[in-house]
Amino acid sequence: MADDIFKQFKEHSVAEFFKKNRQMLGFSGKVRSMTMIVHELVTNGLDATEEAGILPEIFVQVEELGEDHFRLTVKDNGPGIPKMHLGKALGQMLAGTKFHRYLQQRGQQGIGGSACTMFSYLTTGQPTKAISCHNGRKLTANIAIDFKANKPVIQEIEEAPTEETGLTVISEYKEVRYERSNYGVYEYLRRTALANPHCSITLVEPNNEKAVFPRSVETNPRRPFEIKPHPLGIGTHDLLEFAKHDKESRRLSSFLQETFARMSAGKVDELRTLLPNMDFNKKPQQMTWEEAEAMVKAFGQLRWIAPSMDSLVPIGKDQVEISFRNIFSPDVLVVTERAPKVYRGGIPFMVEVGIAYGGGVAAAGKKGEVMRFANRVPLLFDSGGCAITETIKTMDWKRYDLKEFEEEPVAVLVNLVSVHVPYTSAGKQAISNEEDMMDEIKFALMEASRGVQKYLSGKRKAHEIATKRKVVNRYVQQLAGDLSSLSGEKKSEIEKQLLDIIEKKYGEEGEGNGDEGNGEGGNGDEKAGEGEGVKKPAGKEEEGDIDE
Ligand SMILES: Nc1ncnc2c1ncn2[C@@H]1O[C@H](COP(=O)(O)OP(=O)(O)O)[C@@H](O)[C@H]1O
Ligand SMILES: [Mg+2]
Repeated sequence: MADDIFKQFKEHSVAEFFKKNRQMLGFSGKVRSMTMIVHELVTNGLDATEEAGILPEIFVQVEELGEDHFRLTVKDNGPGIPKMHLGKALGQMLAGTKFHRYLQQRGQQGIGGSACTMFSYLTTGQPTKAISCHNGRKLTANIAIDFKANKPVIQEIEEAPTEETGLTVISEYKEVRYERSNYGVYEYLRRTALANPHCSITLVEPNNEKAVFPRSVETNPRRPFEIKPHPLGIGTHDLLEFAKHDKESRRLSSFLQETFARMSAGKVDELRTLLPNMDFNKKPQQMTWEEAEAMVKAFGQLRWIAPSMDSLVPIGKDQVEISFRNIFSPDVLVVTERAPKVYRGGIPFMVEVGIAYGGGVAAAGKKGEVMRFANRVPLLFDSGGCAITETIKTMDWKRYDLKEFEEEPVAVLVNLVSVHVPYTSAGKQAISNEEDMMDEIKFALMEASRGVQKYLSGKRKAHEIATKRKVVNRYVQQLAGDLSSLSGEKKSEIEKQLLDIIEKKYGEEGEGNGDEGNGEGGNGDEKAGEGEGVKKPAGKEEEGDIDE
């Protein structure tokens, strides 16, 4: 009997796993599936163009072929993909140029491109057509997936010379739908344009209508620096893997310095003192599990300089302001950019927040709108389980004169950038509830909210003064008449004097009414956390050393 059970014992590949669990990639629901495909292909185009130093131009066309049946074309002007990698890039899961790097990029798993190929193949039986223009050669190939082996199946390769560069992916899908809703492709691209003002995006919708999101900045953002892993961000198994695969260092001591950030010769000496029995001259490959464990423990006992923050590039205060004004022209706009911090001990991240209130936000009928971004990528789905939404829920908005957040004409943008965003799933639509991140999101929201409050309380005060003035003015006539008959002075003279007094009292107080919050505040100088009942994480406000 027991042996019979194990006749069923089988291996399967990651491609088979995702074939069975495609909802984990975000492919659930027709509209969402369509947006997820565009998301995967567009983020790839943006990553590739930026890395190659090219101003991104993205073209997306959606053609309706039948009921819930579409053809999708996504084209970028990036460097294209070399022939030897083209099949794997679009037909093998967990393959790519990003997974193993500590670099702020949109992709980080090596799944998106091949996930689209998979979904297309599963719903239509058709391969995906890839046209890669790279280094003067135009390569056209049809790519499918061998699910059992998680390997690409490449058919019909054609080659020709070209002067263009870039990748075009043309694929067919069923079980998808095009819709201009909050969850559709149009909204996704609109938000992508908002967070990527250097990018030009063209969308041709199924009805042949062309939507252009033009670029508003003519240069790419600064390139984030690639960093090495920080000693505080790794575990025993990571350390052993690094050691096993090290090809250059002859000694453990040099391996440590070459592999990790902030690992100076001095730090290695400190480790020697903490681990007197460890042989730092042996080959890194000879390190045992116990030694690696002791080493990671020792890492935790030392003081380290924080990882380099040049690895992070936010959208930027000015850009968020320009984008927000373009979309909403709000009455008040406050943008906050927090200083970079680390989570899980060694992974850098940073939060920026923009809050727009009134004006165009009200006119557009938006109420309590939250726009979530991670590394400039809009997150449209799974808001329930996202650290950003969760943090917004814990905000005491009344404190900032935003009585019922969901009923106010307010739009909030939160962008979190990191060399590794802790997504809750392979679909990459929600950020997990890392405490350090939630604290920073909250501080950023509080800073920005204070700016909004300044404006709102100014406006409220102006309103109160105007009301009082009206009331007092009502008595001027009567009082001037009474005083005139009592004193014999001219009524008009008394009236003028009374009006002067009122003007002096309320005129000055009423000045600056309501405009003060506009574009100001949220400059990051104010101390976040005060009076909000939020725990200020110990040692996290200083730059430089990390105490853990
Ligand atoms: N448009 C593109 N231009 C250049 N390279 C691309 C493009 N799309 C995908 N690639 C390459 O294919 C790899 C796999 O892409 P993908 O499966 O989306 O994973 P990820 O983006 O997470 O790395 C990328 O890492 C990149 O090297
Ligand atoms: Mg990708």
